[in-house]
Amino acid sequence: MEVIITKNYEEMSRVSAELIAREIKRKHDLVLGLATGDTPVGTYKGLVRLHKEEGLDFSKLTVFNLDEYVGLAPLHENSYNRFMWENLFSHVNITPENVYVPQGNTDDPEEFCRWYEAQIRDAGGIDLQILGIGGDGHIAFNEPGSSFASRTRIKALDKQTIEDNSRFFKKIEDVPRFAITMGIGTILEARSIILIANGKKKANVCVQFIEGPVTSQVTASALQLHTHVTIVLDDEASSQLKRKEYYNWVRDNKHIVAKKIGR
Ligand code: PGA
Repeated sequence: MEVIITKNYEEMSRVSAELIAREIKRKHDLVLGLATGDTPVGTYKGLVRLHKEEGLDFSKLTVFNLDEYVGLAPLHENSYNRFMWENLFSHVNITPENVYVPQGNTDDPEEFCRWYEAQIRDAGGIDLQILGIGGDGHIAFNEPGSSFASRTRIKALDKQTIEDNSRFFKKIEDVPRFAITMGIGTILEARSIILIANGKKKANVCVQFIEGPVTSQVTASALQLHTHVTIVLDDEASSQLKRKEYYNWVRDNKHIVAKKIGR
C-alpha cells in the first residue's frame, strides 16, 4: 500500500482528485467506484473544478456507488443517491444511464444486490474504487466482523456508525439501521483503490488498518491483501503511524524508480 501524507484536508482533496483525474484521462471509459460521507466532498469539488476549468470528460465513465441506506428513496434528503448528484454528478457531464447507486427502497433487496453485482461484472469490473473509512474501521458499510469474501448485500449498521452518521439526520432514531453495501470481496476485485481519510478522529483506525494485523474487526485492513492501493491522509489522520518517515521517503524518491520502470 502506498501511503501519501498531505498537510491538510485541502491538500488531501487536491491530491486524490488529481489521482482520479489521471486515471480518467488514461481511460476515458473508466469504471469508477465512488464513496459518500464528509471525506470525499473536497475530492469531488476538485473533480468538478478539473471538469469546468480543464475539460475533464466524464461522459464515457460508468460509476458505481458503494452503498445506500435501506428504506430511503433515491430523492430522500439523506440518501446517498442525492448526495452524489448534489456533490458531483450534477456538476459534470456524466451520462445518467451510466450512474449506479444502490436503490434503498427496492422491494426485493436480495434480488437487487444480485443485480447490482451483475451490473458491475457486465461493465467489465471496477477499474478504480474510491473509499473513505468509518470510525469503526469500516469500508463501505462493511462493519466489524464482515467476511472478506462478502458481496453486495444488506448489512446491519454498527452502533458507532449510527452515532457517527446521526449528525446528518434530525434525530438519531431517524438513522436507518440497515444498508445495502458492496462487500469486501466486491471491493477487493477493483483493479486499483484509493482510500482517503482526514482528521484526528480517524488517526486510530488509520494506524490499525495500515500497520496493524489483517482482521475482520477492522475491515479496511482487508486492503493489505490488495496489490494496488493508494492511501491519501491528511496530517491529523496520519498522526499515529509509526512508519511515516518511510512513507514520506518513498513519496519523495519514487520518481527515481518510476523512471527506470517507465511509469
Ligand atoms: P465520513 O464517513 O467521510 O463522513 O467520515 C466515512 C465512512 O463512514 O466511510
